[in-house]
Amino acid sequence: MERNFTNGLIKELRGRSIFLIGMMGSGKSSTGPVLAEILKYKYVDLDVLIEKLTKKTIDKVFSEEGEEYFRDLETQCLQEIIKLPSVVVSTGGGVVLKKENWGILRQGIIVWLDINKEIALNRLNSKDNIRPLLKGNIDVKYEEIFETRKDIYAQADLRVEINNEGVKNVAEKILNTLHKEINN
Ligand code: S3P
Repeated sequence: MERNFTNGLIKELRGRSIFLIGMMGSGKSSTGPVLAEILKYKYVDLDVLIEKLTKKTIDKVFSEEGEEYFRDLETQCLQEIIKLPSVVVSTGGGVVLKKENWGILRQGIIVWLDINKEIALNRLNSKDNIRPLLKGNIDVKYEEIFETRKDIYAQADLRVEINNEGVKNVAEKILNTLHKEINN
């Protein structure tokens, strides 16, 4: 990516934070750090932050404290993160469920990583860190969750289609889409 392009984009962004949203397996956590590095932004992975705060895996937080507790923590973390400028945030796939969170996300730029379902399932099936919400028949669970969320994800400022590109390509796709959107 050309230095002039990225420097221009950094100026255009004026320190607004970027929130990556999308389904589990869409690559939010792998793309976020690359994006942050290119933009010279700070980086936060919301799930990792919650794991640090609770000293538990997300799976354990769900099984021992329940989903509601997890969702409240997500909101509290977002409330803190938004106080800082220039942060790329990889959110958990369910962050879009609470209306309250949108008031926070909207203060930054919301980017939906719209992943091809088969590719997401391939990734999720091949990873051993099983998501609590996908336990059981993963294909059926994924579909059910996507159906209830797709219209909510579509409220994002930007949508980036994801197939099987590497993280660097995804980050570049996001940057190009951001640039186009800002200059529209
Ligand atoms: C969730 C997605 C997970 C994690 C939790 C709930 C969801 O994060 O926050 O298991 O509701 O979609 P990833 O999207 O990073 O997998």
